[in-house]
Amino acid sequence: MLAALTLIGTALLAGAWPTPPYTPPGGVGVSPDSPPPKYEPYSQFDFQSLNLALNQEWIELDLFYKGLEMFTLQDFLDAGMNSEDRELIEFMAEQERGHAQLITDMLGPHAAKECNYTYPFTTVPEYVDFCQKLTRFGESGVYGFLPHLNSRPAAQLLLQSITTEARQQMIFRQFEGLFPMPVWFESAITQSMAWTLLAPYLASCPKENPRIEWQNFPALNITNNPSGPNPAYPPAITHNRTALSYPGMKVTFEWEKPGKKVGPDDAYTTSSSAGEPKFAAWISQLNTTYTPLHAISEDSAYTYQPNGSVFDIQGYFDPLVNDTMFVLITDSDLHVTPYNLSLLNAHVVAGPAMFQSG
Ligand SMILES: *[C@@H]1O[C@H](CO)[C@@H](O)[C@H](O)[C@H]1NC(C)=O
Ligand SMILES: *[C@@H]1O[C@H](CO)[C@@H](O)[C@H](O)[C@H]1NC(C)=O
Ligand SMILES: *[C@@H]1O[C@H](CO)[C@@H](O)[C@H](O)[C@H]1NC(C)=O
Ligand SMILES: *[C@@H]1O[C@H](CO)[C@@H](O)[C@H](O)[C@H]1NC(C)=O
Ligand SMILES: *[C@@H]1O[C@H](CO)[C@@H](O)[C@H](O)[C@H]1NC(C)=O
Ligand SMILES: *[C@@H]1O[C@H](CO)[C@@H](O)[C@H](O)[C@H]1NC(C)=O
Ligand SMILES: *[C@@H]1O[C@H](CO)[C@@H](O)[C@H](O)[C@H]1NC(C)=O
Repeated sequence: MLAALTLIGTALLAGAWPTPPYTPPGGVGVSPDSPPPKYEPYSQFDFQSLNLALNQEWIELDLFYKGLEMFTLQDFLDAGMNSEDRELIEFMAEQERGHAQLITDMLGPHAAKECNYTYPFTTVPEYVDFCQKLTRFGESGVYGFLPHLNSRPAAQLLLQSITTEARQQMIFRQFEGLFPMPVWFESAITQSMAWTLLAPYLASCPKENPRIEWQNFPALNITNNPSGPNPAYPPAITHNRTALSYPGMKVTFEWEKPGKKVGPDDAYTTSSSAGEPKFAAWISQLNTTYTPLHAISEDSAYTYQPNGSVFDIQGYFDPLVNDTMFVLITDSDLHVTPYNLSLLNAHVVAGPAMFQSG
């Protein structure tokens, strides 16, 4: 009797009957009575998040093949890479076919098609650096919205593709001779931050592609950004490399005013709802850290790289800034954490830019 009551209580808690064995109460979508998962957007928020992710997958597909077409084997050999490394890049391009197909299947007939792209590299090291940065914001852009999707089934599939992209990102770091993973946690950014970083490389898109309904912030340039490629550090699984910047380093910025046409066919316009520029926001790992701006003009300022740690556990120190990470100019030092980072969007004057700290 008592056992039966407990069972009923448990079933009520789980919102289902009967409770499968070895399934503690709680969880979402784990009961045999749960509606079957639909791998599709449940809301406009979902559609637009997946639309952004699909545009990211398409550029990766184009980009990975592009380097193989643009540069000869000799160009790769001169950069310390070989034909097997080229094969790996080709395999990554094939992975992108699958990622783009997966999201296309979830979005249905209105899914975006491939665009034409414009790229900023002319050498193999610049290509590898660009791939490393593009996959970094692609990966971080998805981490920012995955737990906010209405469609958990869609989140499940996207998660299983973004973990592959995370491996690509690390391999490009290794091709660049950087330390493969100088952090304890990978950063998350918002859709508008990811779209701001992606839009400059989309030249023109098929007319029927759905509009990307996220914000384009004014561009931010770190005018003394450390350079990733360094001939002293050829491609390798790892190098005993120190960080490329340091706490207290002066970091100089220039940014654009809102109202500039950007993105495919110049069909998008940058905007900001922020007030006066006051802070640099450093989004890295689990933290958004602010440092005050100095010598602020309407389109430039400088700041100093923050010190501090994500965790400092019995002397094991995880520095706040030690990766390819994200910096923005903001009007406020709003306290945000990874799950409510989107509240920062309204305070962005410009950015993000990617800071090459490690
Ligand atoms: C891409 O560029 C080619 C060559 O200029 C052009 O024919 C094609 O229509 C463009 N495609 C898109 C999707 O803009
Ligand atoms: C950023 O600033 C550097 C240094 O002044 C400059 O070389 C570079 O062209 C700028 N990049 C952009 C996109 O304006
Ligand atoms: C690498 O760095 C660690 C700690 O920073 C040091 O203990 C070690 O000797 C270095 N190893 C090599 C091979 O340079
Ligand atoms: C940064 O913080 C660490 C750990 O607290 C400390 O050892 C180091 O001296 C600090 N560096 C600067 C430049 O303040
Ligand atoms: C960074 O975030 C972690 C995890 O939330 C927190 O414990 C830590 O205090 C934060 N560090 C700083 C300097 O804000
Ligand atoms: C974001 O969440 C943190 C708790 O994780 C909270 O302390 C902070 O106030 C929130 N920020 C805003 C702007 O609501
Ligand atoms: C910071 O990154 C460098 C590589 O850029 C790495 O060698 C170092 O171990 C990292 N430091 C910490 C404390 O994680």
